[in-house]
Amino acid sequence: MSQQLARATLGDIQRPVAEDLERVAAELRRIIAAAFPVIAEVNEHLLRMKGKLFRPTLLLLASRAAGADEPRGVTLAAVVELIHLATLVHDDSVDHSVLRRGMPTINALFSHQVAVIMGDYLYSRAIIELVRLEDLEPLRVFARVTNEMTVGEMRQLEAHDKLSYGEEQYDQLIRAKTASLLSGACEVGALHAPAPYREALARYGMQLGMAFQIADDVLDYTAAEAVTGKPSGLDLREHKVTLPLIAALGDMAPADRRLVAELMGTPEPPDALVADVIRRVAGAGGLDYARRRALELAQQAEAELEVLPASPARDALRDSIAYAVERRS
Ligand code: IPE
Ligand code: IPE
Ligand code: MG
Ligand code: MG
Repeated sequence: MSQQLARATLGDIQRPVAEDLERVAAELRRIIAAAFPVIAEVNEHLLRMKGKLFRPTLLLLASRAAGADEPRGVTLAAVVELIHLATLVHDDSVDHSVLRRGMPTINALFSHQVAVIMGDYLYSRAIIELVRLEDLEPLRVFARVTNEMTVGEMRQLEAHDKLSYGEEQYDQLIRAKTASLLSGACEVGALHAPAPYREALARYGMQLGMAFQIADDVLDYTAAEAVTGKPSGLDLREHKVTLPLIAALGDMAPADRRLVAELMGTPEPPDALVADVIRRVAGAGGLDYARRRALELAQQAEAELEVLPASPARDALRDSIAYAVERRS
């Protein structure tokens, strides 16, 4: 990818849809509003947590780039962010994470019980909103995608044989748990566009989504908590096998493999052990491999955009690829 692409910032890619994005936050507030005290309290906390709004951005850009400006774009963009938020609330509970977007998670601040119920609350509000639109198409896409995401999260939970976990299994996992929603966002944005545009955008979202998750998995190894707003090294502490480790295991000396096995066998691995494994994964080229793989997916995503007519939105979708793989948080 060219240098110019590699410098894309979140501000750059959001510029063509900046006004709509501002309305997404208000729309989100309207959709989740509740009178019940605990729910209202959690809602307030969630609305204070600022995310990147990457999925709404993709939905709105896809809609513009496909030339079929979706009049309900802001509502659908709020719905995709709401589905994402519901999965984050559940994911943090499942991952025992205490920090999200630089703030305490729902499970940390309230309880795991509240996180479970709130995830369902948010998701069902998303469904109510989609039903209100009286259009089966976005409902069909998002219902399928959220179901795929649950299977993805379950795959992760059920990945027991840590040291022989393969790249194919990992690809299948990240497609389901992450890329399906980014793909769904692009597809829903382009629902009223001609089929070739819609299908290309759905494929673009899938490849971009996989690259996005690989970048997230690399950041879990390399980035500081203060930058990502999430705990670093959490994947290893939770015994999650991601691409850097999968790639490194193939090249590791027996002593290093034994150390990984020790970490996977320790219920709460100490920070020093986690740091040691991170160093060895980096030393065995695991991080470089994962970065190369993300770039490969990025190139595939970029090729999908060729069918679309030139526009500022298409340029922003192209820049989104660079952003997804080069991002620091
Ligand atoms: C986090 O998504 C979950 C992943 C799929 C890696 P984001 O990195 O888009 O999180 P926010 O919404 O900006 O907080
Ligand atoms: C992505 O996986 C989670 C979802 C798609 C819900 P991670 O567990 O890596 O996401 P983070 O790092 O907690 O954001
Ligand atoms: Mg997590
Ligand atoms: Mg992660």
